[in-house]
Amino acid sequence: MKKGMSAVYPGSFDPPTNGHLDIIARSSHLFPEIIVAVTDNVNKKHIFSLQERINLLRKSIKHLNNVSVLSFSGLLAVYLNEIQSFILIRGLRAISDFEYEFQMALMNRKLNRKIETVFLIPDRAYTFLSSSMVKEIAMLGGDTADFVPECVEKELKERVLSLSKDKYAK
Ligand code: PNS
Repeated sequence: MKKGMSAVYPGSFDPPTNGHLDIIARSSHLFPEIIVAVTDNVNKKHIFSLQERINLLRKSIKHLNNVSVLSFSGLLAVYLNEIQSFILIRGLRAISDFEYEFQMALMNRKLNRKIETVFLIPDRAYTFLSSSMVKEIAMLGGDTADFVPECVEKELKERVLSLSKDKYAK
């Protein structure tokens, strides 16, 4: 690893989970600067707006002084070129993640040959955790306290409640 290199951890973070935070903390020990780059995933329906996800992440990582949270739109490969940062961090939870992550890493490298993707494995406690599952649990009235930071848990409960009110008001 070259001295002074920053790394980018991109994702949709809808919502940020303890698994994401585990990857952020691990990467903050490996690189001098981490940029958490939040975007809309066109293949997913988000329940928090981009700005809300940024705010939740900022609250959750405020104890890590080499981590900042920014947003981008459009192609990640183009964004990396704009900020001249070419190391991508992605978490790998299980073999089932591998195919999608492998494809994305190779596609990003094809779009910009400077890009290298570094995969980090989260703590075993988070290998089963995903934002989609957390949303489903919250929507079905389950307890998400073990899966997300406290600030996210509170906002998630409120959001799910207002979404279900909207649904039944129709
Ligand atoms: O947390 P996610 O939703 O798994 O993150 C996926 C994300 C946002 C990193 C990916 O969809 C992405 O990079 N989107 C930006 C658009 C882009 O560059 N697409 C081509 C990826 S090869």
